[in-house]
Amino acid sequence: MQFTLASLSLLGLASAAPTFTTRGISTSPTFNLMYTPDGNAPAPVDALNSGTWYLAASNGHAVLTSFSSRGLLYKFGSDPRIAQAAVSLTITPGGTATVPDGQPLAFENNNGTVPVDIQLNDSGIPTLWHDGGRFQACRGEGEDIFLSYVQPGQRFLAACAAVELRSVCSEHGVGEEMKGKLGKIVDVACVRISN
Ligand SMILES: *[C@@H]1O[C@H](CO)[C@@H](O)[C@H](O)[C@H]1NC(C)=O
Ligand SMILES: *[C@@H]1O[C@H](CO)[C@@H](O)[C@H](O)[C@H]1NC(C)=O
Repeated sequence: MQFTLASLSLLGLASAAPTFTTRGISTSPTFNLMYTPDGNAPAPVDALNSGTWYLAASNGHAVLTSFSSRGLLYKFGSDPRIAQAAVSLTITPGGTATVPDGQPLAFENNNGTVPVDIQLNDSGIPTLWHDGGRFQACRGEGEDIFLSYVQPGQRFLAACAAVELRSVCSEHGVGEEMKGKLGKIVDVACVRISN
């Protein structure tokens, strides 16, 4: 089950329900997407078994980076899309009914894929969402570890790690990310973390 941002205030009202841990969840116009290792990454991407990883745009691809130059993201438009600066996250599902094509997601200078959103998962954690699918991280040419989409019914590729990207509130406020603004920025649910 997924919850939209609009449901967040309702969850707040229903905070007596023990199933959801919405404590620490806030909203922000800018956010980072963070992956915290769970130790299950296979050899090609075993770098993902330590550190903290962030989604960022690199050479037109959506990559995971361990550098502090994390991609500052925002959601925009009446139909939700997600962008970094002037490039929008573009998801082109592929593969067969059961096997994904393993292609990198793109950050392109276009309007982005609709809907790409931040939604609360079953634990009440705001995560990257697209059409009920999941995400995996795979090794590209060179050292890149890129993000790839797995449609409902498809399995993860053996060489890739299943990743969920958690929305983390940005401490950066609204600055440079407004530069490439593609539409009205919409607040997203995010987790506040302190380093
Ligand atoms: C992007 O959206 C704008 C505003 O809705 C529209 O005018 C434009 O044609 C779109 N561009 C593409 C490449 O779809
Ligand atoms: C929700 O997302 C968090 C962060 O990725 C993850 O740790 C948790 O297992 C997820 N819960 C469910 C039920 O998918």
